[in-house]
Amino acid sequence: MHAQALLLATAACGALAAPAKRAGEFLFTGTNEAGGEFGTAFPGQLDEDYTWPSPSAIDQLFDLGMNTFRVALKMERATPESLTNSINETYFEGFESVINHITSKGAYAVVDPHNYGRFYDEIITDVEAFGAWWTTVATRFADNANVIFDTNNEYHDMDMQLVVDLNQAAIDAIRATGATSQYIFVEGNAWTGAWSWVSSGNGEAMLALADPEDKLVFEMHQYLDEDSSGTHDACVSATIGAERVQEATQWLKDNGKKGIIGEMAGAVNEVCIEAVKGQLQHLLDNSDVWTGWLWWAAGPWWSDYMFSIEPTTGPAYVGLLEDIQPFIGA
Ligand SMILES: *[C@@H]1O[C@H](CO)[C@@H](O)[C@H](O)[C@H]1NC(C)=O
Repeated sequence: MHAQALLLATAACGALAAPAKRAGEFLFTGTNEAGGEFGTAFPGQLDEDYTWPSPSAIDQLFDLGMNTFRVALKMERATPESLTNSINETYFEGFESVINHITSKGAYAVVDPHNYGRFYDEIITDVEAFGAWWTTVATRFADNANVIFDTNNEYHDMDMQLVVDLNQAAIDAIRATGATSQYIFVEGNAWTGAWSWVSSGNGEAMLALADPEDKLVFEMHQYLDEDSSGTHDACVSATIGAERVQEATQWLKDNGKKGIIGEMAGAVNEVCIEAVKGQLQHLLDNSDVWTGWLWWAAGPWWSDYMFSIEPTTGPAYVGLLEDIQPFIGA
């Protein structure tokens, strides 16, 4: 999209422009913002069990060129006890204020129910209630064009048809609120891994999803350690980043779909930095299908967590940001 606009602009000037900053070809570059999903206590207490991302930290990352922030929340805290309950305003006003802060800057805010397809640890099987939850939540943001709806974080170990049905119920509910201009990020089963997108069956099953507005983006996650879990500081090789997303790239191309890597990271060491750069370069080289990428993660409570990109002391902020800055854009 951006590439086409640039081509048109170049043609209009009638001059050969210098090569555009290639990161500009991504629609979305940014980070996850964790905190609202922290803690296992429900409903939990603000600043004891959970916290909200810092507006000033978001501002600093925005100034580096990030334009998309995926903000986690817990469904159990948004609507206590039942998916069909009304919103707990005490919790939700904190979430809403982060979302509004981001979008008022002209950036994209992704609403990320960080629930793994579960509610109080039980797999969500009531598709209608899941749709109702989305009606409740999307209604709050229906007029905000810079909000992106992410149906759920990392479905896993679930019936594949159920994952499809939950995604479709969310899409239908969101559109029915009048939120017709916004992107919807859909996620697959098997922790929505890019490396296993085809082999897990997501590739085949997720083709059933339909959006009347045709603004679905297939969100996949990809880490670079031995089991793609993102829990080890060693990456498999310097080329693993590109290798692990290649098959998903082909799936997007073969099926005329758009994708985003909604979580990615590597620790601060030579092999991982090369692997991360290789992954980002691959996404950029295929930005006809990859709309962008989001780092895992920023947030005020990460302390010295190896992937933290929280300004200004997170290990990735200190040791890796410079390497990925060319892929963030301006
Ligand atoms: C609503 O959220 C607040 C803040 O987290 C919490 O203290 C309160 O107990 C919650 N209410 C319900 C009914 O869960």
